[in-house]
Amino acid sequence: MLKLDGVTKKFEGLVAVNNVNFQIEEGEIVGLIGPNGAGKTTLMNLISGTLKPTEGRIEFNGQDISGVAPYDVCHRGISRTYQIPRPFPDMTALMNVAVGVFCGKNRPNMSLSDAMLDASHFLEFVGLFGKRNMLARDLSLFDLRALELARALATTPKFILIDEVMAGLNQSEVTIAIRLIRKIVEEFHVTIMWIEHIMKIIMEATQRVVVLQYGEVLTSGLPEVVVNDPRVIEAYLGEKIA
Ligand SMILES: Nc1ncnc2c1ncn2[C@@H]1O[C@H](COP(=O)(O)OP(=O)(O)O)[C@@H](O)[C@H]1O
Ligand SMILES: [Mg+2]
Repeated sequence: MLKLDGVTKKFEGLVAVNNVNFQIEEGEIVGLIGPNGAGKTTLMNLISGTLKPTEGRIEFNGQDISGVAPYDVCHRGISRTYQIPRPFPDMTALMNVAVGVFCGKNRPNMSLSDAMLDASHFLEFVGLFGKRNMLARDLSLFDLRALELARALATTPKFILIDEVMAGLNQSEVTIAIRLIRKIVEEFHVTIMWIEHIMKIIMEATQRVVVLQYGEVLTSGLPEVVVNDPRVIEAYLGEKIA
């Protein structure tokens, strides 16, 4: 479904993503892990079209999407969440998701009331229907993460990129969020690439893991194999999280 071929991104002198090659098949939940600064978010920005690769090719369903604009990538069926939630703070939760609905494919003629109805369903799905009229600025971090997921779903994606959706959440919120992502996969049959810093969550929630270090793929494989790989343990050493 998604194929990265020699994908590289340089910022000035820094190589943030270096010759990355991997594929994700339809229906997979793939974890992307690695220490801070490994290039995880940059890789996500390259896939979603926020950044253009310096070199290499990104294919989605057989089509070259390297350097394609974000709205176009979205129309092709790839949606994302942000590590730091980015709602429209002065709009209600409902309107934030309605914007997502309008960003989907073939929506220019949809009425606002239809978009809001659609948005209500997505809010309900993520457990935010009761807060639909709250301004995004007044939502808790946990609710903002759920809102990010609702907005991503509202564009009717086939593939969702999730960036550290669990960061800053407490244990019980993490449990609820993992359950929600499972429910999203069951209900919407989406494929997921999930960036996560916390290994325990990756172990619980993904089927396959790709490890990035210094912008390069260090290794990939089954979560239980990867976390016991001495190279991966070493990559995480020196970090409190280990
Ligand atoms: N827009 C940018 N301009 C310059 N350097 C950047 C930019 N975005 C990321 N970087 C650098 O690229 C490296 C990888 O960052 P990032 O992809 O955010 O890592 P991760 O998400 O794995 O923590 C870091 O050294 C970071 O400082
Ligand atoms: Mg990041």
